[in-house]
Amino acid sequence: MDALERYLRECDTPQGDALAWIERQSWLRTSHGRQVCGPTVGALLREIVRLQRPQRVLEIGTFSGYATVWMAMALPEGGRIDTIEINDEMETLIREGFERAGVTDRIRLHIGDALDVVPALAGPFDLVFIDADKRDYVAYYQAVVDEVRPGGLIVADNVLWDGKVYAGETPRDRQSVGILAFNDLVSGDDRVEHFILPLRDGLHIIRKK
Ligand SMILES: C[S@@+](CC[C@H](N)C(=O)[O-])C[C@H]1O[C@@H](n2cnc3c(N)ncnc32)[C@H](O)[C@@H]1O
Repeated sequence: MDALERYLRECDTPQGDALAWIERQSWLRTSHGRQVCGPTVGALLREIVRLQRPQRVLEIGTFSGYATVWMAMALPEGGRIDTIEINDEMETLIREGFERAGVTDRIRLHIGDALDVVPALAGPFDLVFIDADKRDYVAYYQAVVDEVRPGGLIVADNVLWDGKVYAGETPRDRQSVGILAFNDLVSGDDRVEHFILPLRDGLHIIRKK
């Protein structure tokens, strides 16, 4: 943890026991704990949910359920989250975290490939959080954009991809190429208004007109 992150954790409202437990278990029980979005992005998602008061939220890429719980804890009465995770080895940890946070009844967990699951889910969605395989961001966007209601939001994480997308050299790795194609697609889509928030690894905030 760097000095900035330590300072933010000291200043900000503590995330609470359940989220701290999920974050810690993500490091202890998987080999890629850094995939959790962290408390600052989590708190931003919480505030988006508080302001927007969505009834239907879709998350693509659950991992340990950390971001899911941030959003679930802020949902208004009757609000629901569908979250999709391709790796079935995560299911036990995800469900334990939901139980600890007391949000199980607000969440439907789908284990499978989002590209198979999304077409089977009926929209419209008020908020979509895209945070799965960077190579497939274009496909996720194309799968959800028509299912987002006017005024609804799509938030996509990691769209600066460690600076590789603006470093000057043309990136060759498939993740960077996927993110670049996604950002270009959104920029050319006149159905939406959007901006990139350079927080952590970059969040593309996209509002359907
Ligand atoms: C960055 S992590 C998600 C982190 C989580 N949203 C959070 O902030 O706590 C990405 C997750 O997406 C999952 N994933 C990758 N491709 C997927 C797909 N096609 N469908 C569903 N999940 C996928 C990975 O297994 C991984 O757990």
